[in-house]
Amino acid sequence: MSQARIVYLNGEFLPFEAAKVSVMDRGFLFADGIYEVSAVLNKTLVDNEAHLARLDRSLGEIGIRNPHTQEEWVGLQEGLVQRNGLTEGLVYMQVTRGVFERDFAFPPQDTAPTVMMFTQAKAIANNPLAERGAKVVTVPDIRWKRRDIKSVALLAQVLAKQEAAKAGVAEAWMVEDGYVTEGSSSTAFIISGTTIVTRPLSTALLPGITRLSVMRLAREEGLRVEERLFSVAEATAADEAFYTSASSFVMPVVAIDGKTIGGGEPGRLTRRLRGLYLDMAGAPAA
Ligand code: PDD
Repeated sequence: MSQARIVYLNGEFLPFEAAKVSVMDRGFLFADGIYEVSAVLNKTLVDNEAHLARLDRSLGEIGIRNPHTQEEWVGLQEGLVQRNGLTEGLVYMQVTRGVFERDFAFPPQDTAPTVMMFTQAKAIANNPLAERGAKVVTVPDIRWKRRDIKSVALLAQVLAKQEAAKAGVAEAWMVEDGYVTEGSSSTAFIISGTTIVTRPLSTALLPGITRLSVMRLAREEGLRVEERLFSVAEATAADEAFYTSASSFVMPVVAIDGKTIGGGEPGRLTRRLRGLYLDMAGAPAA
């Protein structure tokens, strides 16, 4: 954990150690809050407008007033990126319902939300895992029924990711009624022939921002994109598979539950989509 960072908390840019939140914060007590993650590449925020729009939507869905305009959010993000000298990595933003004596129902209207942001340096474009391809395991999806909200209540995802870690793989794909919902922190895709398949949006999964851009890029390439449910059996029989997120962009999948996908190497179309996304995000040519 790098302590050299500057973090943002409730109106102030502070040294890491100085940023403290009350034990009565509703994020801490109830996971009563939402978050968002935008990637930074070449000091520039990637797909950021859409991330901030989803932040606004998540807040609205749980009845927290958005404390900032889009412009203010961008100003805070850029302020944090600049203060931390971040070239490549992530900006994390979290808003909770604020600090009040513990009580389940909402605190009074004038309770200020807690706004917290930090940066993480991370090699997203030049990630060696993207060259080798990631392996995934499947786990039951034990989450609540509003997965379209980017809630900080992530215990099910923490347990899913730990199953992946125990199996020595990078990601867990969550499964409900035999169908893949999504990754523990990513959107799941498979490719058969030249058709890309991903689950349609609903309350069963997060509306991935990277998902949307990748679908657009795929269609611009003349590839067919089908939004429909797919089973674990269909995924393991697919020609290619990958997952998307702000923290991985397009990550090739080379094995699911120990079964090799394609030839066990990142697929041709997956590589193409990763390249197109990197171009869009403004990555320097490798
Ligand atoms: N997670 N599904 C889930 C459950 C996620 O947590 C994420 C992202 C995604 C991909 O969404 P996007 O493309 O908008 O990043 C899908 C972030 C990166 C995280 O929790 O760190």
